[in-house]
Amino acid sequence: MALMASSPYNNQIFLLPLFLLLLPIYAFAQNNITVGTSLTATQNSSPWLSPSGDFALGFQQLPNQKDLFLLCIWYDKIADKTIVWYANDGDTPSTAPTGSKASLTSDGGLVLTDRQGKELWKPNNIVGDVDKGVMSDEGNFMLQDTSSETLWETFKDPTDTILPSQVLEKGTILSSRRSETNFTRGRFQFRLQQDGNLVLNTINLPTDFANSPYYKSGTDEGTNSSTAGSQLVFNESGSIYVLRKNGERLSLVNGDIFSARDNYIRATLNFDGTFAQYYHPKNTSGSWTYIWSIPDDICQDVRVESGAGVCGYNSICTIKEEQKRPKCDCPRNYSLVDPNDDYGDCKPDFIQGCEEDELFRSKVHDFSDLYGVVEVINTDWPTSDYVQLKPFNGDSCKESCLSDCLCAVAIFRDGTCWKKKLPLSNGRVDNSLDSRGFIKVRKAEYSISPNGSNGLVQEVKEKDQDTLILVGSVLLGTSVFVNFLLGAAICVGFFFIYRKKGKTVLADQNVADMNLRSFTYKELEAATDGFKEELGSGAFGTVYKGKIQTGSSVVVAVAVKRLNFVVQETEKEFRNEVKVIAQTHHKNLVRLLGYCDDGKNRLLVYEYLSNGTLASFVFTDIKPSWRGRTEIALGIAKGLLYLHEECSSQIIHCDIKPQNILLDDYYNAKISDFGLAKLLMMNQSQTHTAIRGTKGYVAPEWFRNMPITAKVDVYSFGVVLLEIICCRRSVDSESNDEGKEILTDWAYDCFVEGALNVLVNWEAEALDDIKKLETYLKVSMWCIQENPALRPTMRKVVQMLEGVVEVHAPPCPYPAYSVTN
Ligand SMILES: *[C@@H]1O[C@H](CO)[C@@H](O)[C@H](O)[C@H]1NC(C)=O
Ligand SMILES: *[C@@H]1O[C@H](CO)[C@@H](O)[C@H](O)[C@H]1NC(C)=O
Ligand SMILES: *[C@@H]1O[C@H](CO)[C@@H](O)[C@H](O)[C@H]1NC(C)=O
Ligand SMILES: *[C@@H]1O[C@H](CO)[C@@H](O)[C@H](O)[C@H]1NC(C)=O
Ligand SMILES: *[C@@H]1O[C@H](CO)[C@@H](O)[C@H](O)[C@H]1NC(C)=O
Ligand SMILES: *[C@@H]1O[C@H](CO)[C@@H](O)[C@H](O)[C@H]1NC(C)=O
Ligand SMILES: *[C@@H]1O[C@H](CO)[C@@H](O)[C@H](O)[C@H]1NC(C)=O
Repeated sequence: MALMASSPYNNQIFLLPLFLLLLPIYAFAQNNITVGTSLTATQNSSPWLSPSGDFALGFQQLPNQKDLFLLCIWYDKIADKTIVWYANDGDTPSTAPTGSKASLTSDGGLVLTDRQGKELWKPNNIVGDVDKGVMSDEGNFMLQDTSSETLWETFKDPTDTILPSQVLEKGTILSSRRSETNFTRGRFQFRLQQDGNLVLNTINLPTDFANSPYYKSGTDEGTNSSTAGSQLVFNESGSIYVLRKNGERLSLVNGDIFSARDNYIRATLNFDGTFAQYYHPKNTSGSWTYIWSIPDDICQDVRVESGAGVCGYNSICTIKEEQKRPKCDCPRNYSLVDPNDDYGDCKPDFIQGCEEDELFRSKVHDFSDLYGVVEVINTDWPTSDYVQLKPFNGDSCKESCLSDCLCAVAIFRDGTCWKKKLPLSNGRVDNSLDSRGFIKVRKAEYSISPNGSNGLVQEVKEKDQDTLILVGSVLLGTSVFVNFLLGAAICVGFFFIYRKKGKTVLADQNVADMNLRSFTYKELEAATDGFKEELGSGAFGTVYKGKIQTGSSVVVAVAVKRLNFVVQETEKEFRNEVKVIAQTHHKNLVRLLGYCDDGKNRLLVYEYLSNGTLASFVFTDIKPSWRGRTEIALGIAKGLLYLHEECSSQIIHCDIKPQNILLDDYYNAKISDFGLAKLLMMNQSQTHTAIRGTKGYVAPEWFRNMPITAKVDVYSFGVVLLEIICCRRSVDSESNDEGKEILTDWAYDCFVEGALNVLVNWEAEALDDIKKLETYLKVSMWCIQENPALRPTMRKVVQMLEGVVEVHAPPCPYPAYSVTN
């Protein structure tokens, strides 16, 4: 650089007198643009040129945006037409669609309007009547009145670049762009403050909140009012200095001077926060050459308390030697939130947190087993500490972070261990640190990975019941953010799995698109591989897993139910009944896809739900989250309400129990086996023996020769609701506690005694939500009333669960009269 510098410097000295001579000529060589003239935003519109043709004001097409133009000033003689000013409204550049116009008017000055005449932009604060516009050879566009007084100029309303002969007054701000090609306001500022100090600082977008500066000229009033800065001057020969009140100059950098006669010179606040000066030879088609920049090391100098730093959150800044520009990298196993923004935030490729770690408590000896460590040296996020441990050693530092669910990263240096939490900010590499850093990375086998190629998501799909519950409780857990991430992770995960398995499994909508199909017994025998994999069996039959083809190549997983009772009714009646079931569509009901009826074999084909039954969900060691459980309960109630009141003919289920409630990919409850009771009862309505439901869930009227109404389902629902509340079975014959075996009795006792904490086994989440807990409990007490007339309808139940209607205190479910029965 020194080599290149020497010759232009000499030239400049030589040319100086000539330059001064030429000055008056410049004043007459202005290109005046008269009021009424306009520019149009099209590809080949000619701009307003300065007399020498060095600078142009006009429209440039935005990179990668076919129909959007930017009203701007650029160097017109060089190949890359570098933009030095652009019309903008603070936050966003005033981009103009094709056909927009920039017109010179006497009242507005320069007014940008779209094709419909809607105003997009105009300069602020113009006082007086504009007579002409002048594009100067310095690159300044001025609006002047009849006496050539300048009313407004781009030099006083700069964007991110300043040019020789430009002077900034106190209060002026340069704002960085978002990226090289995105002119939206970025997060860096170059300001001559009111106190005279020239600073570089970051702001916290979208607000103007300024963090403490990462560069200061030190020319503030506080030091000495006569040495305080009054202007920032970029003089004709290319020097940039703060002009002090007393006339002294503080050069930003004492560097080489490049002749402004032979070179274009500019200083730009880059989108990455460095403020740099460049030159470009006028007579060649060369390129911009870097001269100097501030600050010296932006990665070390930016340290903000309430923002991300130079790079985004969780990112690491490294300084590039040549131009002192920063480079941002995500740590290993972290990736960019916006893949197109290299300088943006990073996120872990895994999910980390106390709640998540807790899910694995039963699977690992210690939480530290869940994580591996990526070790980094001389890297720090200095503002993300939550604890400092001293004296300590490196290995204990690592271990301490691994087994601490709050810890994301630990840095060890000089016998001190700093534990840090997410999001990490101000990340940088500092070779003087001599530190070790430990970044926690969740092991693949315990990951809830967004890819879903391994870890929990797949386990759920393929094998482990325990993990299924884990995912459920995470999904339905309390943290909105985690839920969002996890929801996304699971969607992506499932998508991935579907993709991976290619033709074998297909997403829901295809299933829903299918019409009711009639199968031959042979087809279903083949679909289930000879009824090989049994999914479960109940009062109505046994269910097998199968695969069927829909369309030409699409294969769908199904559940095939083989009805195990002898049906008396004719084929026609059977089909009618099946049709009724098939027409019963509701979010909380399992879909019937087809059937087989060849006289002696009757089978029903249902959609396959991968997440198992409510029974396997709630009756486990680890309780699924309270919120998730309440949503499932509400879903069941809505499904039942639909069956009872909203479908074309009322369907009484008769066998509501947790084994008949399935869970879909998103843990929505879906009732299965509805409509079968009717099928079964067709010709045997006198005796209900075959379908007396299931012990523990059946309503008393089954034993009492009372009419069977929809209220039998309400009773069963009440029992299931209690099970959901307490996460225990309705009959627990193994219970050691006297009086606890029958859930309904015990629950009523607890209710009467107000011992809700005993009922939910001190579950914090439920007790935090005590109002809902009370409501749900009262509703269940109403549902299990022995007298069917006292039980509410499912509509009322839904309203009570939703909190729309008040729930009164329930009477004892077992009135005296029933005891004698
Ligand atoms: C531009 O306007 C100025 C002041 O009115 C005048 O002196 C000059 O001759 C004009 N230049 C051109 C090229 O019209
Ligand atoms: C520019 O960046 C902003 C903020 O990140 C974004 O909203 C906008 O879409 C970007 N514009 C273009 C043209 O990429
Ligand atoms: C302020 O600076 C001026 C010039 O550098 C010096 O003469 C004066 O003594 C200084 N005043 C104080 C209070 O330091
Ligand atoms: C610009 O400023 C530098 C540094 O103060 C000075 O050496 C140079 O003479 C100035 N040039 C002009 C044209 O005023
Ligand atoms: C460009 O100008 C410089 C200095 O005036 C001169 O040395 C060089 O030969 C010129 N290059 C071309 C290609 O004209
Ligand atoms: C972390 O990254 C390594 C490769 O750099 C990869 O093998 C490993 O699976 C990643 N771990 C997680 C949890 O994503
Ligand atoms: C997850 O996906 C990212 C980006 O697609 C990839 O770089 C990473 O290796 C994947 N991780 C695993 C564990 O497959």
